Amino acid sequence: MKRPIMAGNWKMNMTPAESVVLSQSISNRYKGSWDKVDVVLFPPSIDLRSVFTVLDFDKSLIEVGAQNVHWEPSGAYTGEISIPMLKDVGCTWCIVGHSERRSMFGESDMDVNRKVIALTDAGMNAIVCVGESLALRESGDATQFVCDQVKAALAGLDAQEAAFVSIAYEPVWAIGTGQTATPEQAQQMASAIRSTVADLVGQEAADAMRILYGGSMKPANAELFLACPDIDGGLIGGAALKVADFVELVNQAVASAR
Ligand code: PGA
Repeated sequence: MKRPIMAGNWKMNMTPAESVVLSQSISNRYKGSWDKVDVVLFPPSIDLRSVFTVLDFDKSLIEVGAQNVHWEPSGAYTGEISIPMLKDVGCTWCIVGHSERRSMFGESDMDVNRKVIALTDAGMNAIVCVGESLALRESGDATQFVCDQVKAALAGLDAQEAAFVSIAYEPVWAIGTGQTATPEQAQQMASAIRSTVADLVGQEAADAMRILYGGSMKPANAELFLACPDIDGGLIGGAALKVADFVELVNQAVASAR
């Protein structure tokens, strides 16, 4: 395993006031050993400044990321936020192409690619989400579908730019459902993703890239995912809103880090 990433995706939860309480509670439980892991909180964009302020005041190594961004630096895009805005509030990471954005907000593979290029150009870390529906899993086409998503997201990137990218494999049927992929399914997909990345940007960049599992990850099931040779952390939704669960997940990632 590479240096793990434990990413908490808060989705559309937590008011700014609540975000201060949650980030402060997590920061209070920070341990020195957490420096073995990239711990990143992804609050709603309106909470970013508050969360960054909490962590900055504590001189915490926990980082802050956004759940989405537009690829243009500014302009007439009502409702959108830009990379310069994210950087200004202390964001160093951004999630791209979460399945909820793809399915509910019409985000296409091309949009995902534009965002990945803009983020890597700006020196920000992108976590690109990929994953198949239950229908695709049952039809046996899941691996092809997910690898095609990876190819589309990374199109045009060279190895240097790919160093800013991590990939989260999140089977859509496992997100928020309490159902998870088996560690074998997750490992098989992570390995297929890594081979696809190797074809695109070379073996060295693929070996260095961190691939996460996401989809109902919690303390009771994380250990087996983190033990998979091609899985380097987790993208955590529901459990990231519970302080004790998120702290325990980070502790498990620390224990699994070599
Ligand atoms: P979940 O969400 O952990 O609640 O399944 C994961 C995600 O959507 O990133």
